[in-house]
Amino acid sequence: MASGSSLSGLSRPGVGQARRQRGQSPPGDLGILGKVTRRIISTNARTHTVAVEPRGILLEVNEGESVMAAAERSGYHWPTLCHGDGTCSICWVEVTVGGEHLSAATDAELATLNLLSPRLRQSREVRLACQLRVTGDAVVRKPGVRPVAEEETPSVNASVAE
Ligand code: FES
Repeated sequence: MASGSSLSGLSRPGVGQARRQRGQSPPGDLGILGKVTRRIISTNARTHTVAVEPRGILLEVNEGESVMAAAERSGYHWPTLCHGDGTCSICWVEVTVGGEHLSAATDAELATLNLLSPRLRQSREVRLACQLRVTGDAVVRKPGVRPVAEEETPSVNASVAE
């Protein structure tokens, strides 16, 4: 199911918000024609909504796109060391809703998930966000996912001591 689902009560900060704050128009902004075109495209596109707790981030994930790739495309930092190679396990998420909408884990993903503690794997449904595709809406839990713009905040200690 695309946007407008039961997940619609959560916030959706992202790249567009950051651009508006900087006074920039979104790329390809064609006014009302652009808005209508985007609506037609989004209606026809196969996307699913994934909510990322605890921050209540909503992601529109394209068919065949990984959850982590959708987050990065939308302007979010996702914890990682291997940047999507499926080898570090740092991107793991707990799936709390929508387990029936997940792609099957490959042998390579399962091997990397084995790097996590057995207690963690047995008590929760865990997947690698960089490998996880969805065929419907879902809710996952991943602390540390945040807008990239938060990383660009200047340091408070920027003054120079004399
Ligand atoms: S980003 Fe490293 S395993 Fe997913």
